[in-house]
Amino acid sequence: MGDKKTRIIAVANEKGGVGKTVTVVNLGAAFCRQGKTVLVVDMDPQFNATRGLGVDMKDGMLTVYDLISDIESVRAADVIVPTQWKGLDLIPSHVDLAGAELELIDEIGRENRLKQALESMSGEYDFILLDTPPSLSLLTVNVLAYAKEVIVPCQTHPYAYAALDDLFDTIFAVKKNINTDLRITGIVATLFDSRTRISHNILEKLKNDDRYADLLFDTVIRVNTTIAESADVKKPVIFYRKGSYGSTDYTSLANELLA
Ligand SMILES: Nc1ncnc2c1ncn2[C@@H]1O[C@H](COP(=O)(O)OP(=O)(O)OP(=O)(O)O)[C@@H](O)[C@H]1O
Ligand SMILES: [Mg+2]
Repeated sequence: MGDKKTRIIAVANEKGGVGKTVTVVNLGAAFCRQGKTVLVVDMDPQFNATRGLGVDMKDGMLTVYDLISDIESVRAADVIVPTQWKGLDLIPSHVDLAGAELELIDEIGRENRLKQALESMSGEYDFILLDTPPSLSLLTVNVLAYAKEVIVPCQTHPYAYAALDDLFDTIFAVKKNINTDLRITGIVATLFDSRTRISHNILEKLKNDDRYADLLFDTVIRVNTTIAESADVKKPVIFYRKGSYGSTDYTSLANELLA
């Protein structure tokens, strides 16, 4: 076991399309650029984080699916792949992961599969960042059972704001029943479009809501088309266009987390 003080951070929100994956990929990239070592774990069968880090699945490549479904014979080290950026590693995902859900359903300790599988990685990295699917599935529960911290991306849109309440209930239920160490590190407002009244409106609501105000990061992630372009070339925006809003905003978020 290494001697780093590993921070294990889940990026979670049951709502789809709020910027979870973009946050995982770019926080990973921002930490890496600051000389930190990072392991990204893609726990979403859509495998967007895997793609976003430029990893193409090849025949025979193992994924997080193999890791949690064959815990006796597959080791974490067997499924970790390097990305093209030194210090930034990945445990890839695959559509098969959707099937893991059903396979695990009857197993004892099913919520703790990922934790068991990754326990040996504590101390090896500065950060372990976990991407989650947009549902409260057994996969998400596995992530929340293992993580110590949660970052919640909240799109600056009324539905996303309204959904925070349920999300917090979920996180507190996991904390109470499965993982007492879990804490919400912060909420990050995403997809902020300064030209729209609704974006400003929702940001104000977050700032003035007693439940969320203290948790809100100062950094706001602005809408930035370069983020979509960077997904097309399979690179974090941080490495694709250093001067873009996307790069600046995620660097600033990483700095808040390091402070
Ligand atoms: N700041 C941004 N500016 C512009 N586009 C963005 C930004 N953040 C995310 N996007 C785009 O919005 C879409 C949703 O983002 P992302 O995939 O990160 O959300 P998600 O919460 O992971 O979605 P899912 O719940 O489906 O996993 C993607 O097409 C992404 O490229
Ligand atoms: Mg995603």
